[in-house]
Amino acid sequence: MREIENSSTLYLVGVGPGDPDLMTYRAVQVLETVPVIIAPKGSRNGKSSALTTVRAQVELDGKEIVELHFPMKRIYAARGRNQEQEVVDAWNLAAETVLQRLDRGDDVAFPTIGDPAIYSTAFYLLSTIVHHRPGIDVKIVPGISAMSACSAATRQPLGLGDEVITVVPAAFERDDLKQILEKSETTVLMKVHRKFDELASLIEETGLCENAVLIEKCGLPGQHIYHDITQAAGRKLHYFSTMIVSRNQRTPHGK
Ligand SMILES: C[S@@+](CC[C@H](N)C(=O)[O-])C[C@H]1O[C@@H](n2cnc3c(N)ncnc32)[C@H](O)[C@@H]1O
Repeated sequence: MREIENSSTLYLVGVGPGDPDLMTYRAVQVLETVPVIIAPKGSRNGKSSALTTVRAQVELDGKEIVELHFPMKRIYAARGRNQEQEVVDAWNLAAETVLQRLDRGDDVAFPTIGDPAIYSTAFYLLSTIVHHRPGIDVKIVPGISAMSACSAATRQPLGLGDEVITVVPAAFERDDLKQILEKSETTVLMKVHRKFDELASLIEETGLCENAVLIEKCGLPGQHIYHDITQAAGRKLHYFSTMIVSRNQRTPHGK
């Protein structure tokens, strides 16, 4: 194990679901203060959504900005399960990039969409860094999650009283998805964009179509809320698409 060479800090910063107004005060403060921002992007030639959100609130002139590509591959969290080499290479490169900056004494912020605790690259990066350098100083700034923003946009609660909320990364095959939909009072389906048609027919089978709402690009230009999810059939959905299925049918509060 290498010695810690300085006391610089790595901040994992949740920047909310893309609407810059939904960045927290603390997120803005941290991002304004750090000299280095290292941001993830899902496509090699595309832009980092997290960084685009940050740019709208924080003056970036004079900072070192690094955008790193993290391949959009399925990641299996279970210990011992091998990840694809391309994914591991991206985590190692990112860890090295962060450690170089920390070692020269700079604080680094890694902005991430929504909250870092929910299916975020931030924690893969962190575990890779900690594997190499267990004692680094890390601070995590929570962010407004996409599901919170989607709940707010549809004016429907995710859970009330004794209801159970289940969150499913729907990009993965799950034999028990039908049971989840049938058992859980609220099911939040994330990463639905490529699986939407398949999911919609499963929801139809469970008789829950009228209880489902699909929110695409919540809080962003082009936001689309499908109260009738069949209207989205066959459409190419944006990656920022989330579906909420509530067994206890909700009537949107107010208008
Ligand atoms: C890798 S996960 C990141 C989740 C994020 N860390 C959070 O706390 O919400 C990406 C998924 O979040 C959801 N998402 C993120 N931003 C969204 C938005 N503005 N509108 C709808 N869904 C969004 C989508 O389901 C998307 O596929």
